[in-house]
Amino acid sequence: MPERHQSAAAGAAPVPGARAPWRGTVAVVGGTVVDETGSRRADVVARDGRVVAVGPGLDVPAGATVLDAGGCLVAPGLVDLHTHLRQPGAEEAETVETGSRAAALGGFTAVVAMPNTDPPVDSAAVALEILSLGAAALCRVAVAGAITVGRAGERLAPMGELAALGVRLFTDDGAGVQDGGLMRRALDYARGLGVTLAQHCEDRAIAAGGVMHEGNWSARLGLPGMPAAAEEAMVARDLALVAATGARVHFLHLSCARSLGLVAAARAAGLPVTAEVAPHHLSLTDAELAAYDPLFKVNPPLRGAPDVAAVRRACAEGTVDAVATDHAPHAPHTKQAPMDEAPPGMLGLQTAWPVTLGALHRGEPDLGEGDGDAPGGIRAMAVAEVVGLLSWRPARIAGLHPSAGGDQGGPVVDGAAANLCVLDPAERWTVDAARLASRSTNSPWHGRTLTGAVRHTVVAGEPVVIDGEAQR
Ligand code: DOR
Repeated sequence: MPERHQSAAAGAAPVPGARAPWRGTVAVVGGTVVDETGSRRADVVARDGRVVAVGPGLDVPAGATVLDAGGCLVAPGLVDLHTHLRQPGAEEAETVETGSRAAALGGFTAVVAMPNTDPPVDSAAVALEILSLGAAALCRVAVAGAITVGRAGERLAPMGELAALGVRLFTDDGAGVQDGGLMRRALDYARGLGVTLAQHCEDRAIAAGGVMHEGNWSARLGLPGMPAAAEEAMVARDLALVAATGARVHFLHLSCARSLGLVAAARAAGLPVTAEVAPHHLSLTDAELAAYDPLFKVNPPLRGAPDVAAVRRACAEGTVDAVATDHAPHAPHTKQAPMDEAPPGMLGLQTAWPVTLGALHRGEPDLGEGDGDAPGGIRAMAVAEVVGLLSWRPARIAGLHPSAGGDQGGPVVDGAAANLCVLDPAERWTVDAARLASRSTNSPWHGRTLTGAVRHTVVAGEPVVIDGEAQR
């Protein structure tokens, strides 16, 4: 048996949340390596946490764990910019352990844990708690810090203290920073610290009282709606603040056509902004609310088919930099409450790969005639481009890419950190929410059949998922 964990070298500076490389050899054979440099048929051998050989027909070293990648893509591990792990404070919904297990099973080798925990990540102590839990988790756990104390939107959190721990993204996610003056000051600090503010774009006054997208379906169902303008207004404000401060902003889970149009124009003008979208906004419409099931309540809400088409188009046209899950576990009893009381959010880690591939590569599900005006003619993205949206592109935004000194999303070459996923683009499986690794079951995909599966995941050289099964 290989020794599974190596203790930190005596005297070495402790890096919060650092993971010791796994001791052992893994050979990933028979697949197609896909990374930001292109695609090639190649085997990959990793030893003691590092890639040591990449090429066709490699000899498998004696004692190696052999992972069959026939028919699969071998890619830098997926990186989720937007994961709610719920620890500390809501361990009945998820923990670092269960969430990282779901992540690894979904092909993710790193996740960024959102700070809307209880207490929130507005102090070094809470960030360190999550980082230390993450050091033993099934994938790397990075932490996003809050922008404001208590995520209350009134006073700035100690961003410098958090940045000193390696925190690179700051957000009050779950809520947007409503006060434009405070947001401006936060951007000034962020620029000085070299960190990125990630905004949940929702003008609270415009969205007030809404439980779903404001449109034909909310009118038909008699449910209060949140207009797209609530998102668009904050995107527009923040773009003005980026222009004024020169600081970077990352837009979280954008969901409507006009927001994405604003981002495209800002980027064309050279502003330092990036944007993510969520798999559910690529694939599900507000028609899912027809049965009044809070399972489909999420924030931003599921939109109409024209917006879903616009989100897909923005991916194909390059406006969107990353697909991020917004994995939001909620304990079952909370999701059984009436629509206005149930919390928003849905699971996403274990379904992100097939759902994103289906939407962007195959144009599935078909957006249909429901709203009559879904624009057609969206370019089908290549499979490698879809992988990029889930892997090396978010790794760069998170500051986890090798170009920033990190170990995620880099090319699969000799000497690279062995954070890899083996993705089957064709395997079909039916989602059973009770069998997902998450502690919660609020998957909108329960009972549906998806095409695309994760066969293996290798984290710091350790095969944590083999043939779709977690190894510890
Ligand atoms: O649906 C959502 N759920 N949107 C958010 O922004 C927060 C998240 C949560 O924490 O449950």
